[in-house]
Amino acid sequence: LGHAVLCAKHLLNDEPFAVLLPDVLLLDQESRDKNYSFSSMVGAWNHTGIGQIMVERVSSDAIENYGVADLGTQESEAFKSVPLKGLVEKPSPKDATSNLAVLGRYILPYTVLGLLETTVAGIGDEIQLTDALDELLKLDGLNAFETDAGVFDCGNKRGFLSANLAVGMRDPEMKLSIKALIQKNAW
Ligand code: G1P
Repeated sequence: LGHAVLCAKHLLNDEPFAVLLPDVLLLDQESRDKNYSFSSMVGAWNHTGIGQIMVERVSSDAIENYGVADLGTQESEAFKSVPLKGLVEKPSPKDATSNLAVLGRYILPYTVLGLLETTVAGIGDEIQLTDALDELLKLDGLNAFETDAGVFDCGNKRGFLSANLAVGMRDPEMKLSIKALIQKNAW
């Protein structure tokens, strides 16, 4: 991910930018605006001028698949922007400092690209965006921004199927078809 972000450097002109991982679907509560979480996070950037990393709560056994936020003794709550103490990419469950996982939505200052240029390969032998962000937060600060949206990691079969069902169940016509299919119990 670090290398991929660096590949986009020539598109930027010393300006803040967003990173959105497209294999992660975010479904805000139906009562809210479609992009409520993301636009709220942009609002937090506009208000603070500090980079924002969206996080969600995940179970302890899933934490090793994600970047993990360390907030020290501070409490996180939905739609609150909280200063980060550290970020670690895919820690083992025993080393994880919280169950707040980086979910793939970031608002970042241009300076992170300079840090990425000197970031060496980390876990998985890959240049990790998380490692550059852990450096950035020590220099300029960085905030975690928790969401309560539904998050679907479409990079695995369960997440992909769940995302399709969740989106389908929000469509009145599709909802009837999905219910009928399940009731038919045709498998
Ligand atoms: C990437 C990031 C990780 C983040 C995850 C979200 O990992 O490196 O910090 O938690 O996306 O899906 P990947 O899924 O590419 O291994």
